[in-house]
Order: sequence, then C-alpha cells, then structure tokens
Amino acid sequence: MIDEGMFDASMGDGARHRATIDVMHGHVSVRKFTDEPVGDELLETLLEAGTRASTSSNMQSYTIISISEAELKSKVAKLCADQAQIHEAGAFLAFCADLHRLSLCTERFEVDSSALGLEEALMLAVVDTALVMQNVAVAAESIGLGVCMIGAMRNHPAEICEALGLPKHVVAVAGMCIGWPAEQNEPKPRLPLDAIWHREGYRSDVELQELIDAYDAIMSVYHESQGRHPRDPRWSAVMSRRMDGISARTELGDVLRTQGFRV
Ligand SMILES: Cc1cc2nc3c(=O)[nH]c(=O)nc-3n(C[C@H](O)[C@H](O)[C@H](O)COP(=O)(O)O)c2cc1C
Repeated sequence: MIDEGMFDASMGDGARHRATIDVMHGHVSVRKFTDEPVGDELLETLLEAGTRASTSSNMQSYTIISISEAELKSKVAKLCADQAQIHEAGAFLAFCADLHRLSLCTERFEVDSSALGLEEALMLAVVDTALVMQNVAVAAESIGLGVCMIGAMRNHPAEICEALGLPKHVVAVAGMCIGWPAEQNEPKPRLPLDAIWHREGYRSDVELQELIDAYDAIMSVYHESQGRHPRDPRWSAVMSRRMDGISARTELGDVLRTQGFRV
C-alpha cells in the first residue's frame, strides 16, 4: 500500500508521482457509460500519450483503429459477443499487433523479411501492443474517463481481419471501450503481492496455494457483494471455469497462420 511518508519533498515532485499512482489504484473496468461523446481531439491526446510507451527496439509494432461509423461499429460489436459497453462507449478502439509497417521498411531496402513471421516477432508485437493499450487506459483514467478492454475481439479473428481490412502480419489483440462513466464498481481486489512478487526465484506451490486460499476468501466476499458467481465465488473456482473461454478460441491459430505468422 502507499505510505504518505514515501511522498515527501525529498522525492522532488512527490505530488505528481502520487497522482499517477492514485489513478492506477482507482482503476476499475467500466461497462456503463453516459452518452457524452469522446471527441477526436480528446482521443488524439490519449493516443499520443499512449505512443510514449516503450517498444521493442523502437519498432512500434502496433496499430490502433478507431471504430465509430455506426454500421462498422455494430458489426464489430457483434463479433465481440455484442457486449453492451461497446455500443455505449463514446469511443471504441481496436489494438492490433502490426508488423506490416516493418515489412514495408524491409521491402524498401530489399531485406529478407521472413523473420516477421517468427513467434519472436509476434511476441514482441503483442507486448508492444499491450503496453500502448495500458498507457492509453491510464491516460484516459487520469482525466476521469472509464475504459473496458475487450478480449472478445479474438472470438472471431478471421471476421475481424476482414471487417477492419487487416493486411498480412497484422492481427487484432484486443479492443478498448472509452467513455464517461455512468456507473462504476469498487476497485476489484488483487492477488496478494507475494503471489506475484517472487524473490530470487520462483515460489513453492505450497506457498502459492496458501496465497491463493487467502485471495479466494477476499474474492468470495467481493463476488457475493456483487451478486456474482453464486455457484462458487472463490477466485480459483471462477478461473478454473474460465478455461472454457480460452479453449473456445480455436480459430486463432489458423488466423495467425493466414496472417503470415509461423505459429
Ligand atoms: C486483454 C483484456 C481483455 C478483456 N476483455 C474483456 C471483455 O471482453 N469484456 C469485459 O467485460 N471485460 C474484459 N476485460 C476486463 C477484465 O475482465 C478486467 O480487467 C478484470 O476482471 C479485472 O477487473 P478490473 O479491470 O475492473 O480491475 C478484459 C481485460 C483485459 C486486460
């Protein structure tokens, strides 16, 4: 937890550090938005802040597609499990891992570009994309906007490629709804820090099981307060049930191959 004493004058502009960390602690995914628009000027501010993220070798291997035209938005929303927040959000963005731009660079210099299809290239592009996504989210939340990321953008990857006209070496990683919150939950508790912070090497399973038990107790109370997961509100039980969601996305491997990745 943040200790007030950490932010004294000796740290320089302590207030500024505090404001950023407070925004991060206040994060909660927002799924109900007002109908107030998120204009292009505001979007530009958020995306410019987003692009300040570090990227592998400055490759900047991502592309952000804003989707506002009614017919396209409705089509894409349907492909993303027709989640209500996509329709409601003032802005909806598709974040894509993108190595196409680099292929144009290699073409220009007549360099063999086959490395762009390697797992390593896909991994670095997905990491770049995730970092810019999180930067955009923090920028949005810093001015009071709410966000909800949409992994369901990988439910029908071939149709998404087609709807957005994605060339080879480009694939949608996730969507993001951005809008002015109409409603928002309390921040969701996280795993105890020890469960994710291992010192000098990986923790034993015995320790991890104890930490998971502790979190299960906290999340059971949280889920009960939200009226969610009445069957078994423990985090470990909810996550075990989520395996279905992962195994349902069987099409992704084929689409990655069609897009030029050798996975
Ligand atoms: C890559 C990614 C994809 C997600 N996809 C969805 C989604 O399709 N629909 C949704 O309602 N929430 C989605 N979420 C939000 C998560 O459910 C949420 O971040 C998680 O439950 C933690 O809750 P919090 O963000 O409110 O702290 C996604 C989050 C991430 C990072």
